[in-house]
Amino acid sequence: MSLHKRRKIRTFALLFCIITFTTFLFSYTFGDPSLYFKHAFRLSDSFLSKGLCACHQCMMEQDEDPWFAEHFNQSVHPLMTRENSVLSDETFKWWQWLQSESQPANFSEVVEELFQVVPDEVLYVDASPERCRTCAVVGNSGNLKGTHYGPLIDSMDFIIRMNQAPTSGFEEDVGTRTTHHVMYPESATDLDNTTILVLIPFKILDLQWIISALTTGTIKYTYVPVPPRIKANRDKVLIYNPTFFKYVYESWLEGHGRYPSTGFLSLLFAIHICDEVNVFGFGADRNGNWHHYWEKNHLAGAFRHTGVHDGDHEYNVTLLLADKHKIQMFRGR
Ligand code: C5P
Repeated sequence: MSLHKRRKIRTFALLFCIITFTTFLFSYTFGDPSLYFKHAFRLSDSFLSKGLCACHQCMMEQDEDPWFAEHFNQSVHPLMTRENSVLSDETFKWWQWLQSESQPANFSEVVEELFQVVPDEVLYVDASPERCRTCAVVGNSGNLKGTHYGPLIDSMDFIIRMNQAPTSGFEEDVGTRTTHHVMYPESATDLDNTTILVLIPFKILDLQWIISALTTGTIKYTYVPVPPRIKANRDKVLIYNPTFFKYVYESWLEGHGRYPSTGFLSLLFAIHICDEVNVFGFGADRNGNWHHYWEKNHLAGAFRHTGVHDGDHEYNVTLLLADKHKIQMFRGR
């Protein structure tokens, strides 16, 4: 039996005795003995009822942290489906402003075409007291080097990587398995047949690109050259929901930076679909260098001062989530 469970039972036993004694005294003094049983049973019910997941600590706890509860909105689903693809005017305008297009295609027509190529499924809504879905969100920081986190990362149910992230040659520190790879056209990389590709669309052309990259290969350029084709299983392609994207920016970043980084978007994706979130490869290394684990050059500040993302603010929110035991941070070296 875990220490946590033993503590829970001990606290329960103590509380049970106190309540039994005081309620018994109260009810006999004021004449309603049935009160005693009511209190005792309500208490045992709430204590012995199953948690919201089967992990040691669940993302959704009953005794919710007020700060977390204020920011978290379970009703916004991280993934786009045909059904939730109709965006509000406000969301559509915000989303189109991210990387404005001179001649955008018709959004709903593109979405219709998209879901003829990739699956239109409602996924990850299967939370239950029996489920303990552990997740690793693996950022690309150079602080992963020399950590030997590989086996720990590989032990998780979901392993979420992003952008150019390689594993080959870095297995000891970053692991070998990838269940989800988050990317956008300009950061795309080939995947194996089992990995789920999570596309973050910043514009309509990005949705057209994934259709093209999985079929005809006609789109070769967005604002930079992009891979005309991508190796990926088209039955395992998911689309990050623009409404969720805006929610992450407004609710979690409170408008800091121009838009959230891939890492922060991946983190919130995990927070919404996992019971336990473990974060690796975020932040600078011990010398303050802000680089990728596969790069030799240590470009201090390269990520933080781009102006597009507010890396410091994102990192502070991430640390706050860790302080509140919502996620576990593995800070690396
Ligand atoms: O650089 P890139 O965007 O590919 O990295 C993916 C994510 O990893 C970033 O969005 C950021 O959240 C995280 N990262 C970091 N520190 C670094 C490099 C990346 O936190 N030095």
